[in-house]
Amino acid sequence: MSATTGKNILIGVTGGIAAYKVVEVASRLKKSGANVRVVMTKNATEFISPKTFREITGNPVAVKMFAEKEHVAHITLADFADLVLIAPATANFLAKAAHGIADDLLSTTILATTAPKIFCPSMNTNMLENPATQENLNILKSRGIKIIDSASGLLACGVTGKGRLPEPVEICKFVENFFAEQNSRQPEKPVEVSAGFGEVLTIEEKLPLAGKKIIVTAGGTMEPIDPVRYICNRSTGKMGFEIAKAAKNHGAEVLLISGNSTQTPPENLHFQKVESAEEMRRAVLAEYEVCDAVIMSAAVSDYRVKNVAAQKIKKSDETLTLELVKNPDILKELGKLKEKQILIGFAAETENLLEYAERKLREKNLDMIVANDVAAEGAGFAVNTNIASFIHRDGKREDLPKMSKSELAEQIVRRLEEKFF
Ligand code: CTP
Repeated sequence: MSATTGKNILIGVTGGIAAYKVVEVASRLKKSGANVRVVMTKNATEFISPKTFREITGNPVAVKMFAEKEHVAHITLADFADLVLIAPATANFLAKAAHGIADDLLSTTILATTAPKIFCPSMNTNMLENPATQENLNILKSRGIKIIDSASGLLACGVTGKGRLPEPVEICKFVENFFAEQNSRQPEKPVEVSAGFGEVLTIEEKLPLAGKKIIVTAGGTMEPIDPVRYICNRSTGKMGFEIAKAAKNHGAEVLLISGNSTQTPPENLHFQKVESAEEMRRAVLAEYEVCDAVIMSAAVSDYRVKNVAAQKIKKSDETLTLELVKNPDILKELGKLKEKQILIGFAAETENLLEYAERKLREKNLDMIVANDVAAEGAGFAVNTNIASFIHRDGKREDLPKMSKSELAEQIVRRLEEKFF
């Protein structure tokens, strides 16, 4: 295992001709097991397309400060990084970083992150030797930023001198040594990982899902009628809680978002209680960008009361009519926004099980659906066992025998693991 395995590395690419070399840097770091994200300046996109980095890293590439889906992208990225690597670092970028200028996504992220930073300056020799650039480099070094010295050779501008970006293999070796040294200063395991979902948790580093952030939803949503009444369903949350436990036991960092349930929250995972479908939707969306997978086992109410009464409804006529309006389909929305995330859904049916489940898999853009006939004996709500079939995106189907919900949870998490690797 490499010292970079499981590390979150943010590569900042600025607008220099050597930007193309950084594709190999990203590729090597990714192959060594790091989770790599790339931020590019607008000028960098003149040299190389964000799509190239996206393909190489498997992660979205950020360029704009106010992109639609990213509310506070600079903070998300700043928190993500165990290390920020700027390659190539242009004279302009060095100047901005040295003086705290934050006028685009990358420079703002640099200011917002407390992660260690490695800069790889690359430019024309005269620009590099200019006292202004040298002074900026000294400022950055004095703040603990590591600088990989530029190499000498023939530069893109035609002159021979110092200013070339070092070879990708050299940059990666530097990064590897940096983490090796950092790791040697830390206890082997368990290690503390930056949560991303909130507070810091202790996670076993060497388990198969180490470094993965997984959202699990559970329980039934509660749709208010008035301050004392609500519409709910028969879900106890057992299946979802078992999945959360299994994912945690496989090393994942888990955020369990639960509606109404009878279960006790397991330890050492992030737990968020919600009531309505809308609340569950907001809770999931808030962390969707940073997570690697969502397992949606919650029984989300398809409808909510249109006009929730502000006061307790008093008994009056013989009949009472409640008008219901459709709730958002959380999983469908996740399927539309999906980038790198693996999505697993459930189909709880009482008839035409496989046909309905397959349709849901397609319509919600899922990677796998767990189909279960909730009317069958030994399956469904409030029992400890379940009978399920897994339908995969490629059409493969697995029919599982009746098993306990904890065993089924284990099987689901194993399939998830296979989809990651
Ligand atoms: N789901 C969701 N949001 C909803 C309804 C369902 O995210 N408003 C998710 C569930 O958590 C589950 C999957 O979608 O993973 C399928 O849920 P299910 O209730 O079986 O199906 P629906 O899509 O609601 O369709 P129908 O009720 O018509 O069967």
